[in-house]
Amino acid sequence: EKDILILAIESSCDETAAAVVKNGRNVLSNVISSQIALHTLYGGVVPEIASRKHIEKINQVIKEALYEAKVTLDDIDAIGVTYGPGLVGALLVGVAEAKAISYATKKPLIGVHHIEGHVSANFIESKDLEPPFLCLIVSGGHTHLVIVKEYGQYEIIGRTRDDAAGEAFDKVARAIGLGYPGGPKVDKLAKEGNKYAVAFPRANIEGFPYDFSFSGVKSAVLNHLNSCAMKNEPVNTADIAASFQEAVVDVLVSKTIAAASEYHMDKVAIAGGVAANSTLREAMGEACKQHRIKLYYPSPILCTDNAAMIGAAAYYEYLNGTRHGLDLNAVPNLKI
Ligand code: KG4
Ligand code: ZN
Repeated sequence: EKDILILAIESSCDETAAAVVKNGRNVLSNVISSQIALHTLYGGVVPEIASRKHIEKINQVIKEALYEAKVTLDDIDAIGVTYGPGLVGALLVGVAEAKAISYATKKPLIGVHHIEGHVSANFIESKDLEPPFLCLIVSGGHTHLVIVKEYGQYEIIGRTRDDAAGEAFDKVARAIGLGYPGGPKVDKLAKEGNKYAVAFPRANIEGFPYDFSFSGVKSAVLNHLNSCAMKNEPVNTADIAASFQEAVVDVLVSKTIAAASEYHMDKVAIAGGVAANSTLREAMGEACKQHRIKLYYPSPILCTDNAAMIGAAAYYEYLNGTRHGLDLNAVPNLKI
């Protein structure tokens, strides 16, 4: 059978990324131009700056991706691009670029849901992973528990009611002076702290066992810091990082395991930037082992935003017959 090569583009937030992916699981190139250093100056992503930077970088990033994969546009079977959710100005750069390439080359255009991309990151290194499985998606903008019934077919069984898990990491990091992006910094500092130092709350939502809420734990950290300041007590930021992370990981693991047993899933995958968290990977690994569940997670570089995962998702959409026209638009609040 003929190989299917997808050129994939991702520009939903602060990484300009392009990749060439063969048959959905074989990454020929994965180029990421990160804007993190630029946004760090402002303590978070500045949408207008992100869009401008994407425009500056996108042609170069695509050229590199083709070059590294040793292919030309002639060899490509379809163009996959993230069209939502994300920052509208940032998304538009990738979408316009993908449409232009599709128009010029007459190759099919496939709009990809960013979250479907994160889920599909798991297919790249785990060649044996096939639906159905349960997936916990934890990123800077999303926290979802979904049943992946088939390729491209999802049932959402839980979601956050307020902050996303990564958002809570970023806000707590800022409060304890770690800067942006906070997740990896909390992860690192927590290794030096005592996770039992402060008992931060674990939120449950009555009647919705698989929904999440992280604004409470975030506020509890802020209140704790304030009360230490008022009482002139020293703050051990490593203990706070460790205790906060423990509270979040505890909730993520227990809800995922409960969902896996209710829905009889013997395979669980985690996805999104927070899936790179070392404590989450460890704790989920132990819990899955106890419950005889096989756990999957991508390498850290495939957990955070990248285009290889968009290429993986686009491949299965390609097989499902998904094609978009040149009227494809960026959809900042696209639903799964
Ligand atoms: O998936 P992603 O790159 O972008 C979104 O689609 O949101 O996720 C970024 C989020 C940020 O909130 C970042 O702080 C968090 O993932 N993150 C982590 C770690 N690495 C990235 N959170 C906890 N521990 C990490 N090691
Ligand atoms: Zn993402």
